[in-house]
Amino acid sequence: MNSATHIAIIMDGNGRWAEMQGKKRVKGHEAGAEVVRKITQYCAAHEDIQRLTLYAFSTENWKRPRLEVEFLMKLLNSYLKKELNTYIKNNIRFEPIGDLRAFSSSLQATIKDVKTKTAHCDGLVQSLALNYGAKDEILRAVNKIRKSEDDITEAMLSNALDCKHDVDLLIRTGGDHRISNYLLWQSAYAEFFFCNTLWPDFTIKELKKIIKDFTKIERKFGGLK
Ligand code: FPP
Repeated sequence: MNSATHIAIIMDGNGRWAEMQGKKRVKGHEAGAEVVRKITQYCAAHEDIQRLTLYAFSTENWKRPRLEVEFLMKLLNSYLKKELNTYIKNNIRFEPIGDLRAFSSSLQATIKDVKTKTAHCDGLVQSLALNYGAKDEILRAVNKIRKSEDDITEAMLSNALDCKHDVDLLIRTGGDHRISNYLLWQSAYAEFFFCNTLWPDFTIKELKKIIKDFTKIERKFGGLK
């Protein structure tokens, strides 16, 4: 049976969720952050899940209205500060991926603080993808290793990426069927699950069902069995 060792999620639908209730889009992000908390705790309590990588802010998300971007930055900052003790209590290691240099120095400091203070945790690794784009990640990795005299190998490139771990199960909420520049290299053999549920409505029950369906898939990795 397959094990969903590394789960990645594209958390889509916050804005629509809020608009459907006559609320401002940012209320959807606030509700979405609560779901991040619940899903992370669930994964942390299940030993076979080792990594949870969540798409929180893409390299393209800067194109959103200034106020929405500012809200997301503040939400992230307060989320991380508030969650620090929960991360430690639940043995969760926080490992951000993405190019963090674009963030304000105070947000960078919070990210670094949570990363440092959870570095000893050896349970679930929760990665938030922050100012993350897979093309950007691959370019930064290639630029890191291109001065090597040797031909670049798959292992070398993989090791130079922010996220060095293949994805087993990639979930996208919100009804769209696209990958949106997320973990392109790491998802080469991932199983994709798309659901219509908007992220703030996503539940542990739905995650459990997806994991159950995933475990029944015969993964062949290009081979015959
Ligand atoms: C997509 O919804 C979601 C995002 C761009 C950001 C994801 C952010 C969160 C889940 C909340 C903050 C996270 C943390 C960890 C504090 P959308 O706005 O594109 O929704 P739409 O497609 O309905 O417009």
